[in-house]
Amino acid sequence: MIDDDDVAARDAEFAALFRRFLTDVVHRADAGPSALTALGELVSQHLGVDARTLAVVEDSIPAHRLADLDAAFDAIAGPDDRIVGVSGGQQKRFASLVEMIAGGGMPFGEAPVDYVSVDVGPGEQRSVVGFGLRLMTVDGEPVVALQRAADPQHGRVLASVELLARDRGRAASLLAALRTAMNEHSVLRGKVLTFSQSAFDYGTGAIGFLPRPEVPAESVVLPEGALARVREHIVGIREHAPRLRAAGAHLKRGALLYGPPGTGKTLTVNHLVSRAEGVTTVLLTGASIRFITEAAQLARAMSPSLVVLEDVDLIAHERDLHGSPQPLLFSVLDALDGLDGDADVAFVMTTNRVELLERALVERPGRVDLAVEIPLPDADARRRLFAIYAGGAPFSDAAVAEAADRCEGVTGSFAKELVRRALLRAATAGEAPSDEHLRQATDELLDDREVLTRRLVGGTDGVEASPWEDDGPTGYGSTVSFSG
Ligand SMILES: Nc1ncnc2c1ncn2[C@@H]1O[C@H](COP(=O)(O)OP(=O)(O)OP(=O)(O)O)[C@@H](O)[C@H]1O
Ligand SMILES: [Mg+2]
Repeated sequence: MIDDDDVAARDAEFAALFRRFLTDVVHRADAGPSALTALGELVSQHLGVDARTLAVVEDSIPAHRLADLDAAFDAIAGPDDRIVGVSGGQQKRFASLVEMIAGGGMPFGEAPVDYVSVDVGPGEQRSVVGFGLRLMTVDGEPVVALQRAADPQHGRVLASVELLARDRGRAASLLAALRTAMNEHSVLRGKVLTFSQSAFDYGTGAIGFLPRPEVPAESVVLPEGALARVREHIVGIREHAPRLRAAGAHLKRGALLYGPPGTGKTLTVNHLVSRAEGVTTVLLTGASIRFITEAAQLARAMSPSLVVLEDVDLIAHERDLHGSPQPLLFSVLDALDGLDGDADVAFVMTTNRVELLERALVERPGRVDLAVEIPLPDADARRRLFAIYAGGAPFSDAAVAEAADRCEGVTGSFAKELVRRALLRAATAGEAPSDEHLRQATDELLDDREVLTRRLVGGTDGVEASPWEDDGPTGYGSTVSFSG
């Protein structure tokens, strides 16, 4: 129960609060809605004119390019430029630069700069300005720039820059110079990047950094000449770029790697990426292919670049709300179309369902100019694969070759799993690994009772046609690759 005394106390408290609110409103009105704040005074002093008479030039920047904006300012900044923070607590989050300058009685003044930590490489962070006002002199003219990070929790999905100069044209040209410097000095340049959906990105995608893989040619077993052909096309063309450009030939190129699961398509991609040192690389797999438009834009801005679309068949079925067929696949094709022919951008796509893509690619030719089959290994390739994966283990060459010969129709991932099993058997038995363990593991994996597992690690049933030719109930083929 609430008694009368409580009600009276609550009313009195409310009346006091309300009186204070009214006094504040009247006080702010007295100060005038356009009176300069302390920050406004500082800005006007720097610019040498009353800042309230100037128009702000504003631009939005994807959240993941904030470090690039910071780097661009560093490149453009003069020796006497300084940077100040802004006081005003939560209110500054919602206020525009104009409001911070001419906000009447609002508490905007000078304060320490807010810095935020952003990823700029695998396990590498940099501290950049998250909220700060740059008082600069560019080509002898004073300019003021407000840099702020995205703040999705408060409705700011993008980072932004707001510029004030005595001449609006000057502010606009500084903005253009910043855009160019952002690409030139980008922290994304030359890195291996992925896109993923994050809680607050509202469709622009969050960028992640991966270490560049280390995969030498010797560890990839493909039919004679196949690896060199793809590498020449994707990585090698770059070496001839000046001559090709001079001759008017285009540099944009695309390769499609297709074949059964577990045969080494991803491994081949990793080899290409490892050989593309210094090349901006964007890796999109399955669901993240939806960021193809952003990836293509980035690739163009950061060329030389390489865009990898892994398992493109996974999006072949995706439709948009209007039910138009293969819209995401068309976005991929559009992105390939939209690139300048002479931009040094290479595309690599992989699939184990090439028939799903064929029509789309044939109907709109000119995007993929090299298609390479990555087949099941033949007897000779199998021996090489088994030898590679038995490399560190103390099995005799003869036993390894025998295992390879017995395992017809299996892939590299199967060979890898076989050796792991043999070693595990030895470890479980508390014995040193021997040929006998390899033989037992081969029996086990080839055993009929292991049909399912064999499928899971990329083998076949031996007697039937290769399972990748037979559509499973999922429509994605009946095998699943074992990606190790
Ligand atoms: N041709 C090969 N040469 C060397 N190792 C191979 C080869 N094929 C497969 N492997 C081994 O098997 C693993 C899995 O292969 P990978 O992921 O490249 O197959 P994939 O073709 O991409 O399969 P999926 O179609 O399922 O994506 C590799 O990491 C590697 O260890
Ligand atoms: Mg793969």
